Amino acid sequence: MPGRVNLIGEHTDYNGLPVLPMTIDRTILAVACPSHDGIIRVASTDAAHLAAEFPPDRQIPTSPQGAWENYCKAAVQAINQHFHVEHGPGMSLVVGSTLPADAGLSSSSAVVIACALCYLRCLGKTLGTDITRSQLAALLAEGEHYVGTQGGGMDQAIILLGKDGAASKIDFFPLRLEDLPLFRDHVFVVCNSFVRAAKTGEARARYNEGPILCRLLAAMLEKYLRDHWDEGISVSRVGDLWLGHLCLTDHEVEDLFSEVFPYEYVSLHAIARFLAISEEDVQRKWLRDLPEPSEGFRLKARARHLLREYQRVENARDALLLGDPELFGDLMNASHESCALDYGVSCPELDMLVSAARAEGAIGARLTGAGFGGSTINLVPADRVESFCRGLDQTFYLGMTRADRQLQVTSIAGAGYIDLSDVA
Ligand code: GLA
Repeated sequence: MPGRVNLIGEHTDYNGLPVLPMTIDRTILAVACPSHDGIIRVASTDAAHLAAEFPPDRQIPTSPQGAWENYCKAAVQAINQHFHVEHGPGMSLVVGSTLPADAGLSSSSAVVIACALCYLRCLGKTLGTDITRSQLAALLAEGEHYVGTQGGGMDQAIILLGKDGAASKIDFFPLRLEDLPLFRDHVFVVCNSFVRAAKTGEARARYNEGPILCRLLAAMLEKYLRDHWDEGISVSRVGDLWLGHLCLTDHEVEDLFSEVFPYEYVSLHAIARFLAISEEDVQRKWLRDLPEPSEGFRLKARARHLLREYQRVENARDALLLGDPELFGDLMNASHESCALDYGVSCPELDMLVSAARAEGAIGARLTGAGFGGSTINLVPADRVESFCRGLDQTFYLGMTRADRQLQVTSIAGAGYIDLSDVA
């Protein structure tokens, strides 16, 4: 299973707006065989991941937050529910990895997919016949919510459907991929900030703030459109404004955003008044345990990020098709600024790493993935990669000897099987 790096289009997927990632040539490998005692046993070559076991039931209780086996349980439960299996077959599985963990390269979704593919085999189901890759990607995107992170569908889609030597623009609901050529004389380099980007604990809460506030954005937009245009309008995700039956243009969406979000900050009281419901109802339906910041919620900036990031993804697609790395790099730089300033998902180390990378010759540099740590993705002229890495060693990494500081990456084919019984 390859990992993935997102080239552009951050925090757009759960809004139904496109992303533009590629698989990377660092992988998770899982080896599995059926067992006859009806228990799933999972182990990892990573000493930090303790071996665990659980019954393959339709409803599987979660292990404590942060336990890695939750990703395996997520896969098995999703598949059992999809195929209406009450109690599935046992399996022993070992996972190994060349993909740095907590680096924002989707090692957790790669584990989910590895477990899913192995378990499907044990269940006697064939990928492509009993379930298509797209169906499995959508199923596991939803299934991974089991671990408590309300992610979108980018990671599962690219890991299962990515193509060798290509990036993909991915659209959602329904899932569609368009394969795009990479640049010939520029390469993508991933740089690890070494700020852990675990999707558990506090990072999980910070990530979930995105989907929670975006659902609130959608509810406010729907209310406005129902009051001013037509009572029948429904907006389940912000992306429905462009891509649903409304088909608004960017200009129309921009005007709508200025009507609905006239101020940079909005209080819970004002949101409740706008939606004509009580503050308790806003809290219960959308915010749950998300507290109101003293200055209010910054909804306008989130909306602005979505509008512009969507435009950037479309332009980045064109830049790949036209073979225009300069344009692509400019879009990456603008995306980082928007993620940091409008969407609030950067951190000082990522900002420093991005500035250092630009100073060392990257023509585009930005955080990649959920943010709050993890890695940056950098577009570097092929003949400058060596001096780029050396320069970062002397400025950002300051003599650090940890492995995997910078990875020159290329894309490989999506997840697959090697049948060891055939090899033998
Ligand atoms: C994580 C999630 C993805 C996506 C990115 C941000 O990687 O798993 O679905 O939301 O963050 O773009």
